[in-house]
Amino acid sequence: MNHTRHSLNALGTKLKSEFPLHNDICYLNHAAVSPWPKRTQLAVSSFAEENAIFGATNYLEWLKTESALRAHLAKLINAPSPSDIALSKSTSEALSIIAYGLQWEQGDEIVISNQEFPSNRIVWESLSNKGVNLKVVNIDKDDPVSAIEKRLTSKTKLVSISSVQYASGLKIDIDRLGKVCKQKNVLFCVDAIQSLGAYKFDIAQSLADFVVADGHKWMMGPEGLALLYVKPEVRDSMTLNQYGWHMVKHRGDYTRNSWELAPDATRFECGSPNMLGIHALNASLSLINEIGIETISEALDSNISYLIGKLKDIPGIEFVSSIEHPRLAGIVTFTVNGIEPNELYSELMKAGVICACRGGGVRFSPHFYTPEHVIDRAIEIVKTTVCQLQNQ
Ligand SMILES: Cc1ncc(COP(=O)(O)O)c(C=O)c1O
Repeated sequence: MNHTRHSLNALGTKLKSEFPLHNDICYLNHAAVSPWPKRTQLAVSSFAEENAIFGATNYLEWLKTESALRAHLAKLINAPSPSDIALSKSTSEALSIIAYGLQWEQGDEIVISNQEFPSNRIVWESLSNKGVNLKVVNIDKDDPVSAIEKRLTSKTKLVSISSVQYASGLKIDIDRLGKVCKQKNVLFCVDAIQSLGAYKFDIAQSLADFVVADGHKWMMGPEGLALLYVKPEVRDSMTLNQYGWHMVKHRGDYTRNSWELAPDATRFECGSPNMLGIHALNASLSLINEIGIETISEALDSNISYLIGKLKDIPGIEFVSSIEHPRLAGIVTFTVNGIEPNELYSELMKAGVICACRGGGVRFSPHFYTPEHVIDRAIEIVKTTVCQLQNQ
């Protein structure tokens, strides 16, 4: 047993009580929507009860939870300060704030990869009416960083990329790409939704100007609450397109006739915060903080390697994902010869293996806490299902 598995087994009882998933399912779909830890369920129910009985009497306490959440998020990306963290509705909204906050000139270029989730493509395509050209770089075969670097020109203003690709699971060397962008004086935007909460992210190392990530995947929080980080130097030059009481310096002083923008990242938050989501995500991140991101990423690496090892035994399996480190994160996508991925996916779901159909294959995404016996059972179900489909 390796060191990580050993330290996780030591956490065994805690993890069992934090993840009381139903015995009938093998949950391998964290790249879509994660189950909540028990403490998140409790945080939401006690917040609901408090709302019903006391309303917002304790709003000042709620604001402390909001501050705690910003501190957790700042720690997760190693941002200089919690005041650099804005809370947004979704990754897509955060990307839109960036796209429509930057000033574009006719002929400016944006570079993305050919593997991006639509949210990290559509928003940039939408700038075509401002004369902005989108270049889509194929990263399927070459080293992704070199492939992107080759396409940067004097007109390139921004590179936007996912830290881990949603369908193939390809992990990008963000720190290396960040250095390339810096050297070429290009803004660097990272959609970190497929890695944040599972892997270390370091603003100082990655030199990212923007980081966005919703909380419902690897951070194990609810949908509808996302991190938006904008480097302070860039923040000041951005145009804002949403306005309201919450984004001003003297928030809460409703008698003033004049206003100034909040000096920190809350300038991107025009109105009332999503307090319910804040209570939930804060609870989920408190668990990540307690366990530690290094332990989590080692345990996830160990789970994904174990899963891949077992999948390799299935006759006719072909991996869509690259299955070697450092290109591998928490996602493995595969096909089985002679079987339609959609059909395999539907049968697996019926049999209780919760997964997704992406990138022309079946996508499995365990998390750090996924027990070995759940992976073993999922593999048995894959084997039986494959046999049944091949004999039809
Ligand atoms: C890489 C990536 N970016 C963005 C999104 C969408 O996130 P949101 O719904 O928070 O906009 C997803 C969802 O699967 C994703 O995988």
